[in-house]
Amino acid sequence: MTAARGRFITLEGGEGTGKSTQARILAAALETRGVKVRVTREPGGSPLAEKVREVLLSGLAQPLGPQGEAALFAAARADHVRETIAPALAAGTWVICDRFTDSTRVYQGAVGKADPRLLRALDRVSVADTVPDLTLVLDVPPEIGLARAAARGKGAAADRFEREGVEYHAAIRAAFLSLAEAEPERCVVIDAGGDVDSVAARILSAVTTRLPLPAVAGAPA
Ligand code: TYD
Repeated sequence: MTAARGRFITLEGGEGTGKSTQARILAAALETRGVKVRVTREPGGSPLAEKVREVLLSGLAQPLGPQGEAALFAAARADHVRETIAPALAAGTWVICDRFTDSTRVYQGAVGKADPRLLRALDRVSVADTVPDLTLVLDVPPEIGLARAAARGKGAAADRFEREGVEYHAAIRAAFLSLAEAEPERCVVIDAGGDVDSVAARILSAVTTRLPLPAVAGAPA
């Protein structure tokens, strides 16, 4: 018997919204409910894409401009989908991905002003039909997010995107909110202010409301 396709969940939002912590907590919660889960991230998530990540986050690719950066994010994504995400979903594993193509639409598109036709063409070759079943947009005011990101990275240099100012991050937040508003059947906005446990509870409730969990073997129907 072939396994039912796994569900694909993405976490999106600005800096310091707690996506990677919440991805881990959600994975653990789903695993206790009998779901096999793979947590991954972008840029990265496969050996080649992790190399491209270094180029992008160091700022080396910044002179290419938002369209050139979008092409690199998409190249990394194509490899990540082919090597990691699609095989896991096909095997019945649920995939939780920390950032995906909505980040390109927001950072390089809405804010960077990359041509939307270019971004759609890049999606056709990188994402194709591996579209998320559910996208959780974690939302906090940019001042709080940037302070959290700075506290987390104490001692480490801010990356290419964290170095941008509060206005830039306010624009990122607004763009994520309007994207979520435009696609309500796929996206849920999560208030990511407050403590980790309350945010985790909001996320789990959104996931179990939107995506039926598979029946656990041996459990009463
Ligand atoms: P990361 O260290 O993963 O940051 P965070 O913890 O905020 O997710 O860095 C990813 C950075 O890359 C982040 O600032 C957003 C940016 N980015 C884009 O600009 N476009 C994209 O398509 C992706 C996936 C990320």
